[in-house]
Amino acid sequence: MSKHETFSFKTLEEIQDKIKNLGLDIRLDNDFSPLFKPRKVGSKIAPNSMATLPMEGCDSNTDGSPSELVYERYKKAAAGGYGLIWWEANAVVEEGKANELQMMLTASNQSKFADLLKEVNKIAEERNGYRPLHILQLTHSGRYSRPEGHISRPLVAYNDPILDKGNEIVVTDEYLDSLIGRYVYSAKLAQEVGFDGVDIKGCHRYLINELLASHTREGKYGGSFENRSRFLIETIKAVKKAVGKDFIVASRFNVFDAHPYPYGFGSDHDDMWKFDPSEPVKLVKLMIENGVELLSNSAGNPYYIYPQVTRPFDKSSYGIPIPDEHPLESIERLFKLTEVVQKAAGDVPVVGNGYSWLRQFIPYVGSANLKAQRCSFVGFGRSSLAYPDGPYDLIHQGYMDPKKCCISCSLCTQIMRDHGTTGCVVRNSKVYMPLYKKFNAEAVKRENRIVKEE
Ligand SMILES: Cc1cc2nc3c(=O)[nH]c(=O)nc-3n(C[C@H](O)[C@H](O)[C@H](O)COP(=O)(O)O)c2cc1C
Ligand code: SF4
Repeated sequence: MSKHETFSFKTLEEIQDKIKNLGLDIRLDNDFSPLFKPRKVGSKIAPNSMATLPMEGCDSNTDGSPSELVYERYKKAAAGGYGLIWWEANAVVEEGKANELQMMLTASNQSKFADLLKEVNKIAEERNGYRPLHILQLTHSGRYSRPEGHISRPLVAYNDPILDKGNEIVVTDEYLDSLIGRYVYSAKLAQEVGFDGVDIKGCHRYLINELLASHTREGKYGGSFENRSRFLIETIKAVKKAVGKDFIVASRFNVFDAHPYPYGFGSDHDDMWKFDPSEPVKLVKLMIENGVELLSNSAGNPYYIYPQVTRPFDKSSYGIPIPDEHPLESIERLFKLTEVVQKAAGDVPVVGNGYSWLRQFIPYVGSANLKAQRCSFVGFGRSSLAYPDGPYDLIHQGYMDPKKCCISCSLCTQIMRDHGTTGCVVRNSKVYMPLYKKFNAEAVKRENRIVKEE
């Protein structure tokens, strides 16, 4: 582990030297052609190998339908030239919403989603001459459910002494059995309104991620690997059966929780920082056998004290300690996890993540990873909020402008932690700086936070 540092690289040589000095396997390539290569996903084709990662804005209308801010986000992503847009977390049930303005597609608001998809495809066709594939992320927020106001209503797979606050409700097997139908319902609506596929989300300590690690749970959803993966696999099977072969069933799942046994998934039983690939690899194969045609790996718990595992950063949000590793080490971990998943997945494409901290060097690193088949898509998370036109600029001018890149300052995360509607505070400051200030002041007051002057 090396000391945490902020980004300071002006040239390719400078970042290459740092990577070398740290002894890391992060490769760079100045041939960007792999980024522009179309990719087969199930029976469909993504026009290039750049994807947005799901980035929720906590800004839908109260009925879950797209608001003006949602429209703006997806119009910009469509114009930005990505080959695949992985839409943000969309709740399958009210009680599983992570915030009261989380996206939620229902029978009564489906026409609004259809309109938005039509509009974004028109924008993409007109500006880029192609339209991206659209994947909608289906979620139940489990432990991090907060469907109304500021009070959390955690619905957990099992009690976890490290994360529990004392108000958790352990969901029953009957609740889980009935939830499968809700994923099927949402997937069918997504198909009707024009999405190309859905993601059965199993990452970031939300319900399905927690179920994968439910070693201590009794009954058919806990204990053995077969039981812990049962809910995810049964949901995949049921959704696939309902949507047929020309609709993509995907999964964004945690390969590595960085959480100790018996409460985490993908970690060595004696050392939570050591990745154990045996179960994640088994899971990848099982998901593919049951119809999954697209994967995205993630890691860590963004709500806990090690968010760098999910999202390497320069500056953290409130209450998060400075990591005792260099952001490039966190990035190397994410790349290695993707490589393991891509190898196990064979021809099934995997969207890689952890790129945003690299700013203008994303295309060098992404191209090298694609060329070495360490992933099939380069995933843009915070970068897609800060610099939605990144792929467009790469295609048309051959580089990403450092002045437009994400600076990994965590202010977008801070707004989420403050229960507000989020976006890029730095590159879209006119809209989001006032929101940041408003929600932060409210949260500081509500939670009696001690704020140090910087
Ligand atoms: C504001 C914000 C919203 C996010 N929303 C989602 C989400 O809805 N679903 C999801 O799977 N991940 C979500 N993530 C995680 C990102 O998709 C991504 O994994 C993470 O930011 C690392 O990628 P990056 O380094 O490119 O940002 C979110 C992250 C942030 C900062
Ligand atoms: S607020 Fe903008 S610059 Fe800061 S981390 Fe979020 S997307 Fe990046």
